[in-house]
Amino acid sequence: MIDQALTTHDALEDPRNAEILIYVNGALVPRDEAKVSVYDSGFMLGDGMWEGLRLYDGVWAYFDEHMDRFFEACKAVSLDVGMDRSGILDALEKTRAANNMHADVHCRLMVTRGPKVRPFQHPSLSRSGPTMVIIMEHSKPVDKLKDAGIRLATVPQVRGLPMAQDAKYNSHSKLNCVIACLQAEQAGADEGLMLDPHGFVNTTNACNFFVVRKGAVWTSTGDYCMNGVTRAKVISLCQANGIPVFERNFSLVEAYGAEEAFLTGTFGAQTPVASIDGKPIGDGTRPVTARIQALYKKAIAEHVAAVSGA
Ligand SMILES: Cc1ncc(COP(=O)(O)O)c(C=O)c1O
Repeated sequence: MIDQALTTHDALEDPRNAEILIYVNGALVPRDEAKVSVYDSGFMLGDGMWEGLRLYDGVWAYFDEHMDRFFEACKAVSLDVGMDRSGILDALEKTRAANNMHADVHCRLMVTRGPKVRPFQHPSLSRSGPTMVIIMEHSKPVDKLKDAGIRLATVPQVRGLPMAQDAKYNSHSKLNCVIACLQAEQAGADEGLMLDPHGFVNTTNACNFFVVRKGAVWTSTGDYCMNGVTRAKVISLCQANGIPVFERNFSLVEAYGAEEAFLTGTFGAQTPVASIDGKPIGDGTRPVTARIQALYKKAIAEHVAAVSGA
């Protein structure tokens, strides 16, 4: 029997999530009644974009950075969101108020090309405008994520070249990532470590990936992975605090031999890696990861104070 797999998005059970209201095209609907059409472009083709945002003390952390990425991706695929970023903030706030939420909340904002008039691929068949759905849940990462760390397995599925499906699209279709995750699960791990087309260590199926070697922090060049908001914050926090940080190519040899490794993402912030392909990472002490976690926590607190005018 292998241990129950941990996912990088495991949250504590919260009974309040059974009663949440979900935003569907402007209406707030109980979760069991929240539905979109079977003709929706998102359901049929994965034709949509999404963002995962987190609420800290009433503030959507790094909202501008999330919106920069979201609108850039929508522009690239000619997806008319039907509102600007202040309209999105209003929709988030309406959903938040209806659910009486203040902190420890995770939000999935999803916009698709909307319902199609016939069940085929051509975008011109989506004629009635986008579908917007906002799901907000009470969500606290389980302690085990921070304590034990996550087990990675290197998987055959890679992140491809940008002219295939650019890894910078946070698209509804995540099949590339889902395949990687399935491969990791079949290998008895929690999450898949994905290489780039040249065989360098790149990213995981749901988070960005970092290693620590001789006190320096390394991550991939960024060419083949999601332009993670948390990834960018970690790099700039290292730069501002005298921690050497490099965006560079490195191989599995250097990942296995790292003193520490961690993942980044909006949900879990920085999640330590316990092992890669069954090989334990370092000796289990994680001083640099702990320092970065503390710096990130402080940066979030300062950001929240600045936004809320506290
Ligand atoms: C594939 C992938 N990598 C990394 C991330 C982490 O990005 P962020 O730090 O912006 O949450 C995400 C989040 O959406 C993702 O889908």
